[in-house]
Amino acid sequence: MNVLHISGSPKGERSDSRKLAARFLERYRVRHPSHDIRHVDVFDGRANPGFGAVHAFHKLAPLFGEPQTAEGKRAWVATERLIGDFDRADKILLSCPMWNYSVPWAMKRYLDNLMQPGRTFGFDAETRQHIGLLRDRPVQLILTRSSTDEDDRTDFQLPYLRHVFEAMGLADIRVLSACATTWRSAEDRQAYIDSFTPQLEHAADAL
Ligand SMILES: Cc1cc2nc3c(=O)[nH]c(=O)nc-3n(C[C@H](O)[C@H](O)[C@H](O)COP(=O)(O)O)c2cc1C
Repeated sequence: MNVLHISGSPKGERSDSRKLAARFLERYRVRHPSHDIRHVDVFDGRANPGFGAVHAFHKLAPLFGEPQTAEGKRAWVATERLIGDFDRADKILLSCPMWNYSVPWAMKRYLDNLMQPGRTFGFDAETRQHIGLLRDRPVQLILTRSSTDEDDRTDFQLPYLRHVFEAMGLADIRVLSACATTWRSAEDRQAYIDSFTPQLEHAADAL
């Protein structure tokens, strides 16, 4: 069994979502000492390569009946490595802050690498629906925001994440959101994080 932790904050040890994920994993390790836990930081450019024109042309060439270039094939090696690392995971833990109602750009870049037609999702021309091509497995989301509530109509973080995983075939999505992370004192901020311990432990036991 192996778990892939995808972290989406650049704030390292000071990150709220990272602290919550650490609490989750602390409990998970106690429950499953033999499980392998891997980590990918989406702000690490080597683990999460850029995705630009070469990639976009390469990705769409087969759909346009065009040949894929040597340059595109070279660029695709890192994207395929990212997809392979993701697909080897039996369980996914994704921790991520909200940035301007959605996910940070680096998380979007990670998902732009991951979401590939013919590889992680397909398209049914008759129903015009996307079909997931990856095997289903549990996905635990740990999301942080300072003020946007989970059911707020301006929440483009959770609905977006939910949709991309479902589109790839991962439908077992569990969510823990901390929606009021901003407090004036360090003690209050820590107390707020600590208040999630029972929920995090329960979620870790269930993953
Ligand atoms: C660039 C940026 C944009 C943000 N946008 C939002 C937002 O749209 N809604 C919200 O509730 N909080 C927003 N926040 C607050 C963060 O989501 C919040 O501080 C979160 O706890 C940070 O998690 P982290 O410490 O793991 O990075 C934003 C923070 C930053 C740095």
